[in-house]
Amino acid sequence: MIKLIELRTLLGARTILALLLSLSPLSYAQDATFIDNVLTLPKATVGEAAYSLELGLSVNQGNYDFGVLAAAEIPFTGTEGASVFDGAVLRVPTVDVGGTNYSLDLALVSGDPIIFRLSSYAEVAAPTPTALAQATTLFDESIETQIVQSKCIVCHKVGLIANGSGLLFVNTSQGSAATNLGAFANYLNGSEAARTRILSMVTGVGHTGGKQMDAGDELHQNLGEMLRLLLEHQAGI
Ligand code: HEC
Repeated sequence: MIKLIELRTLLGARTILALLLSLSPLSYAQDATFIDNVLTLPKATVGEAAYSLELGLSVNQGNYDFGVLAAAEIPFTGTEGASVFDGAVLRVPTVDVGGTNYSLDLALVSGDPIIFRLSSYAEVAAPTPTALAQATTLFDESIETQIVQSKCIVCHKVGLIANGSGLLFVNTSQGSAATNLGAFANYLNGSEAARTRILSMVTGVGHTGGKQMDAGDELHQNLGEMLRLLLEHQAGI
C-alpha cells in the first residue's frame, strides 16, 4: 500500500516533507529498537503529530544514514519517551543496541528522499533503582519466605507470644511481602539503633525467640542490607 505522509516542522515554517511510503505493519511497543540494521521508533513526534517509524541503516562513506522504510501516523499523546523531530534533528532518547542503551541525534540531510544522518550519540546510564525499590526486591527475593515466614511468624504475629514486641507480621498471601516489609519499616522508624537491635536479637542476644541465624551468615547479611536500604530511604537519601 502506498501512502502520502506529511511531516510538519515544529516551528510552523511550513516545510512539508512529503514522501511516498510503502507501509508495512509496525509494532507499537514503547521502546525504540535497533535490530538487523532497522531502527524502529514506536513514537516519533513532529510538533503535535506522532508517527511510528522504521528507519533502515546504510553506511555511506563512513556516514551512518537512515532512510525511511515505513511510517504510520499514530495518535499524538505527548512527547514523553518519544523521539522528537524539531525540523532539523531527530532526537532518539534511548535505543537498545546489543544490550547497551544509547541516545541518538539524527540530522536531516535530505528531504527527498528523507535521509537522516547520525550526528552524535551517547551511552545512556541505566537509572539506579531507589533505595526503597532495592529494599523491596531484596525483601521479596531473600527475606519474606526465607526469614519472615520460615523463622519469625511462628511468634511474631497478632495473638502469639511476640504480640507485644512491636514487630508483627502476616502469613503468606498476596501482598504479605509488602505488609511485612512495612512492619520492618515501622519498627525501624529511621533509627539506626533499631536496626542494630533487630540484627543482634535475631542472633539470640536478649531475645526470647532465641537464635534464628548466625551473625554474618547469608540470611543475616541480607536482613542487614535490607534494613540499611530502608533506613537510607527513610533518611530521604
Ligand atoms: C520462638 C518465638 C520467636 C521467634 C521465632 C522470633 N521471635 Fe523475636 N521476639 C519474641 C518475643 C517473645 C519477643 C518479645 C520479648 C523479647 O524482647 O524478647 C521478641 C522480640 C523481638 C524483637 C524486639 C522487639 C522490641 O520489643 O523491640 C525483635 C527485633 C525481634 N524479636 C525480631 C525477630 C525476628 C526478625 C525474628 C525472625 C528472624 C524473630 N524475632 C523470631 C519471640 C520470637
